[in-house]
Amino acid sequence: MSDEYDVKICCMGAGYVGGPTMAVIAKMCPRVRVCVVDLNQKQIDAWNTDELPIYEPGLLDVVKTARGRNLFFSTDISGEIQKADIVFISVNTPTKTQGIGAGRAANIKNCELCARTIAEVSTTDKIVVEKSTVPVRTAEAIRRVLKCNDKGLNFQVLSNPEFLAEGTAIDDLESPDRVLIGGSQSPEGLAAAEKLASVYANWIPRERILTTNLWSSECSKLVANAFLAQRVSSINSISALCESTGADVSEISRAVGMDDRIGKRFLQASVGFGGSCFQKDILNLVYLCETYGLDECAEYWNQVVKMNDYQKKRFSEKMVAKMFNTVTGKKISILGYAFKKDTGDVRETPSMFVVKDLYAEGARIHVYDPQVKREDMWSEMAYTCGISPDTDPKLDAAVTTSPDAYAACEGSHSVAILTEWDEFKTLDYEKIYKSMSKPAFIFDGRNILDHDKLREIGFEVHAIGKPDPNAFDDL
Ligand code: UDX
Ligand code: ADP
Repeated sequence: MSDEYDVKICCMGAGYVGGPTMAVIAKMCPRVRVCVVDLNQKQIDAWNTDELPIYEPGLLDVVKTARGRNLFFSTDISGEIQKADIVFISVNTPTKTQGIGAGRAANIKNCELCARTIAEVSTTDKIVVEKSTVPVRTAEAIRRVLKCNDKGLNFQVLSNPEFLAEGTAIDDLESPDRVLIGGSQSPEGLAAAEKLASVYANWIPRERILTTNLWSSECSKLVANAFLAQRVSSINSISALCESTGADVSEISRAVGMDDRIGKRFLQASVGFGGSCFQKDILNLVYLCETYGLDECAEYWNQVVKMNDYQKKRFSEKMVAKMFNTVTGKKISILGYAFKKDTGDVRETPSMFVVKDLYAEGARIHVYDPQVKREDMWSEMAYTCGISPDTDPKLDAAVTTSPDAYAACEGSHSVAILTEWDEFKTLDYEKIYKSMSKPAFIFDGRNILDHDKLREIGFEVHAIGKPDPNAFDDL
């Protein structure tokens, strides 16, 4: 080990998890050398500029603090693994699209490939940390691949799941609720866990660093995401009931969330949850339960995903129903395409499903999102829905990406708010109303607008779990 650094880390995978996590470790631990490597040269090149490949508030400042000091980005995967004491595996593990477990199991191909590369190129002992969300017992697969090396090297495998949420990643990493480290309970395993814990202890209080066995750690990540997603699906199921009965879902969230035993977070009814984790992790849990013959448990968790699918579909069906049962040829403005605010990430975004449904109905769709790139919309739609301008040339003409919200709304029949970007709250809705076809509809899929004010302007407003004042005399 060089005198300059106490520990050397290599992180395989420079994506939404690897990039921000390593940047924060480097910022917080000047005596730890951190190098993030990736197969994708373009991705690495972008990390080495001020046009980072992902949008995350505060990330650029953190990167600039440490880049060139003790934070590096490189495609020299072998060289960086060789230098490292600790190698993080932080690669994508998407849901399988074919073969055994298709549509449910996560594909750990990339993790296994990383383990094979580590085994092949290493010349010294390593601690290998599984950071990507993986099916329970993936560490066992990694361990076995690593053990097959014939160089007599010792590899300790740890699980250290990431709990950051996109859009708030820097805060989540700088002040996490907890850091979880799972490892073997052997003396070598405990020593490896302690070495990783001592890196985090540079800025995180010891009582927040939990150590467990490997399987508990892997499983905790799936369970945490399943519980969070379950809360969103639970409140979304109530939003449907509210729209039928005249109750207001925000009032219910407030009343229910004030019970300390329940808590108020993740009770915001919406057009549905998206993102790369919730659905993938629940399906993973479902597959795991099925594998062990626990069919009732599998069905219980599967219902959370089904409810989310229902919520997304219910939203687009309501739009069509309210607009006189037809949107054919109508201009519809979609404000927000990212799966949540403060990110440009579109994986599993509910907007994509609404756009797909409206396209199938023959609408002309104009999308505005402050961070989403058109090519990312298409690549995610091709991956998840199997349609793209290549397979369906009419899609390109039917969907316009607008430079700003006003251009997207000009002349449209309806506006749908699908991401809760702050800037949508302060748009000039009088101006938007004047530019639209009448009757002008607003469908608020995030409940972020002042609905009474919009109605005063003249809009017909429909929101999630909010009673329609025209439908209930007593409101
Ligand atoms: C999630 C977990 O929160 C994080 O701990 C884990 O590491 C990765 O998965 P992320 O997917 O980035 O993070 O965002 P999150 O804030 O959890 O939101 C997920 C989805 O749920 C978004 O589409 C969001 O809009 C939606 N959501 C969230 C709601 O619809 N209502 C809520 O009350 C909260
Ligand atoms: P996540 O949200 O889990 O971080 P991303 O897709 O944003 O997922 O990032 C994963 C990154 O891992 C991608 O940039 C991809 O190129 C990289 N990657 C995948 N396989 C490997 C590998 N074998 N070695 C190095 N990097 C890899």
